[in-house]
Amino acid sequence: MINSAEKASRLSVAPMMDWTDRHCRFFHRLMSREALLYTEMVTSPAVIHGDRDRLLGFDGAEHPVALQLGGSEPSELAEATRIAEGYGYDEVNLNVGCPSDRVQSGCFGAVLMERPGLVADCVAAMIAATKVEVTVKCRIGVDDQLPEEVLPAFLETVSAAGVTRFAIHARKAWLQGLSPKENREVPPLNYPLVEAMKRAYPHLHISVNGGLQSLDQARGFLERGLDGAMVGRAAYHEPWEILGRADEVIFGGAPGPDPFEVVELMKPYIAGHLARGGRLHQIARHMLGLFHGRPGARGWRRVLSERGHGADAGLDIVDAALAEVRRLAA
Ligand SMILES: Cc1cc2nc3c(=O)[nH]c(=O)nc-3n(C[C@H](O)[C@H](O)[C@H](O)COP(=O)(O)O)c2cc1C
Repeated sequence: MINSAEKASRLSVAPMMDWTDRHCRFFHRLMSREALLYTEMVTSPAVIHGDRDRLLGFDGAEHPVALQLGGSEPSELAEATRIAEGYGYDEVNLNVGCPSDRVQSGCFGAVLMERPGLVADCVAAMIAATKVEVTVKCRIGVDDQLPEEVLPAFLETVSAAGVTRFAIHARKAWLQGLSPKENREVPPLNYPLVEAMKRAYPHLHISVNGGLQSLDQARGFLERGLDGAMVGRAAYHEPWEILGRADEVIFGGAPGPDPFEVVELMKPYIAGHLARGGRLHQIARHMLGLFHGRPGARGWRRVLSERGHGADAGLDIVDAALAEVRRLAA
C-alpha cells in the first residue's frame, strides 16, 4: 500500500538544519498541498532527553511531514522513533549523509556509509518500533570509497533490513578537509549512478537529491524513471518557483496560491506567533525568497531583513514589505 508520505515524495523539500523548522514548513505547505516536507535533523539523544515539544511539535497543517533522525545506536533510535510516532509524523528518516564535524564525532551521518551493517541494525530496530515508514537519506559514498561498489552494497544491506525508500544525495561526502557547505558543492554530482540504482533495484523507491535547480529538472528525473526528486537549497531560496508550481507540474493538480496570496495566508499564523511572544524575524527569514525573480523581490527582502528583526516588529512590517513589492512592480 502506498502511504501518503511515499506518494508525496515525488517532490520533497530536503531536511536542512536551521532552515526547515516548523515555521518554514508551514510556509512551504501553503504553496504546495502535495510535496513531502522534512524536518531539520534531530539527534536521537535529543529526542529522548530534550524538550520534546520544542524539538518535535508541529502544526497539523504541515502533513505530510517526515522527521529526520540522526544517530547510530539502534535502541536509542528505536526509542526516538516510537516518540516520533506519538507526535504523528508520516515518516521517520535516518540521516546517513550529513558530513559535519559535530555529527561525525557522534558516529552518525555520512560516516555511516562505511558501516552499512550498523545502518541495517539501526533501521531494523526503528522498523520494529513503529508502524510509520522508516526511510534513509544517504550519499553515494565517502572519501576514497568507490561509489559504483559501495552504493549498491549499501542499498542491498539496508533494504534487506526492511527499508524500501531512499533519498540519495548524488555526490560523495569528503569527511576530512571540507566544510559541510563545501561538501554540498565540491564533490561532483553523479546523477547517472543514482539512475542506475533505480534500474538495478526497481523494487526500491529512489529519490534523487543534490543540485536540483528547477521543477523542470525534477520532472525530467521522474520521467526517466526515478520515483522522487528532493530539493534543498533551491526550494528554500526560491520557494514559490519550486513549491508554488509543484502541485501542477509534478502532481498534476491545481496550482497553489500566488505569492501575494501566500503572504495573506501567512498573516494569521504570524499573528498567532507574535501573540505567543515570538518574533517576526523567526518566521519572516524563511519568506525572504518568496518573490524571487519577480519585480519588487529586492524591496521585499530589504524591508523584511532590515526592519523585521526588532522585538516590536509586527504585521505592519509585512505590509510595508508588500507595499514595496507593489510599488516596484507597478
Ligand atoms: C543549511 C543546510 C542544512 C542542512 N541540514 C541537513 C540535515 O539536517 N540533514 C540532512 O540530511 N541534510 C542536510 N542538508 C543537506 C540537504 O538535505 C541536501 O542534501 C543538500 O543541500 C543537497 O541538496 P540541494 O542541492 O538541493 O540543496 C543541509 C543543507 C543545507 C543547505
